[in-house]
Formats: sequence, structure tokens, C-alpha cells
Amino acid sequence: MKVYYNKSELSKYLDSLRENGNSIGFVPTMGALHNGHLSLVNKALSENDFLVVSIFVNPTQFDNQEDLVKYPRTLEADVNLLKTVNENAIIVYAPTVDDIYGDKIESKSFKFDGLEHQMEGAFRAGHFDGVGTIVKRLFEIVEPKSAYFGEKDFQQLQIIRKLVELYNLPVNIIGCPIHRAKDGLAMSSRNTRLTSAHRNAAPFIYKTLVEAKNKFETRSAQNVTEWVEIQFKTQELLELEYIIIASIDTLKTVKRKSLKKKYRAFIAVYAGDIRLIDNIALN
Ligand code: PAF
Repeated sequence: MKVYYNKSELSKYLDSLRENGNSIGFVPTMGALHNGHLSLVNKALSENDFLVVSIFVNPTQFDNQEDLVKYPRTLEADVNLLKTVNENAIIVYAPTVDDIYGDKIESKSFKFDGLEHQMEGAFRAGHFDGVGTIVKRLFEIVEPKSAYFGEKDFQQLQIIRKLVELYNLPVNIIGCPIHRAKDGLAMSSRNTRLTSAHRNAAPFIYKTLVEAKNKFETRSAQNVTEWVEIQFKTQELLELEYIIIASIDTLKTVKRKSLKKKYRAFIAVYAGDIRLIDNIALN
């Protein structure tokens, strides 16, 4: 399997593949790969001749230094896992911070029509400037035909769609369903850092979202939101940061339901010092 640490060598190789008529898909990741990533990888492989998987823990999207330091870095295991999927068609790009940022490790500032102010944007200062910066940079380096993102980070997915629209970037953005463990917990690289007690408590998040979805059929968004808040008061190991029911276009909290709009419930929860997010389509 080809593993590149340097953008100019990667670009040279990708140009040669494109000259021979090959299509290139792209799955950007921060590593610590799990089955959720593999579902993106398999979808991308089924739609492209070659696939670039980037593995880069992007410093500018972390609002919390401790989270950045503790973020799992498992490059060798990640490469070995990808080899089991397809050694020839997958190309790994694992750049150094220097290869991406040079000597200025900082984000550009973006306006995503207000999408950046909601939820993760409100609770994690500067997060989406960091995401916008790295994703735009990676798109410029890889020049993929299509790029694949999980719906677990639904706000990120909508922001990347907006980034592509605002900058007219020639890449198709494909959103992929959330991959869950058997007990419903959304797959995340952060799950490996949960204590066993927190891991056992965490499926409560999805269970509550499913019940919220059922209640949303007959109740108002505010009523369902308050119901979720009450459920979390019974949980000693889980601390609710937010539950928000929002339209998928604006990501703004819904005041009055409209039959014409699509809604999702978005949640962020601390399990000890690990922050977990999840979401569910409501209609
Ligand atoms: O979703 C992620 O893992 C990251 O936010 C991404 C898109 C790879 C950018 O660093």
C-alpha cells in the first residue's frame, strides 16, 4: 500500500492516475480508524477507481488542548486495517503538521451562512474555522472527484457542502449514514477512551434519541427537548451538554414544526471527560 507523508509526492502520483483516466475518491479522517470509517471507505471504493484516505489529527479544529494531546494516534494500525480492505486501490496520505500548515498553524476565518454558529460552533470556539481550513486544503491537494463524510458529524457535513458551494470547489460531497455498535452507540474514535463504566452507560444516548423521534410525531419540538433533558437527569455517568431539534437546512432550533421541512435531533453528552455527539433524523 502506498503511504505518502508529503503533498507534492502524493500529487504527482495522483496526477499520473488521473492522466490514465482513473477516478479518485477521498475519505478524510483523523485516524484511529473504526468500522464507521470502513463503511465510508467501502462506499468510496465502490464508486471510484482509487481512494485516498488522509490520516491527520488537525490541530486547528481542537478548542481543547487536552483533547488534542489525548486524541488517539494509531497510524500503523490504521494502515494495516486499510490493507485488509484493499491494498492496491487505497492510498494513504498521512501528512506532517508542517506539510499542511508550514510554520503558521492557524485557521482561516469562514462564514458558512450562519451554520457555523449553531451547536458545535457555539460550544467549540473556532472549531469550524479549523475544519473549513483543513478540508479546503486537503481538497486542493487531493483534487478528488467525490469526498465521503459521515452523518454522525451532520453539522460538519452541511458546512462542507456550504464550503464547496461558496468556493465553487469541483468535488461531490457524499453523506453516509451513521455506523453504530450493536448497542446503538455511534462509532467514534473517542469511544476507545471511554472507561468501561462510561462505555456501558453511553448507549443511553441513542436509546433516548430513538424515543425522542417517536415522541416528535405527536409532540412539539420544545416538549421533546425538555423530555430529553429530564431523561439525562437520571444518568449519573452522562452529562448532557445540549439537545437541539433543528431543521437540516439552517441548523437553527425549530420554533414551530412545518410539514415541509426536515428535522434532526442533535445531542452532545459528556461521558466522564469524553465528549460524544450523535444525531437522528426525525421525519
Ligand atoms: O471528521 C473528521 O474526522 C475531521 O473533522 C476531518 C473532516 C477529517 C477534518 O479534520
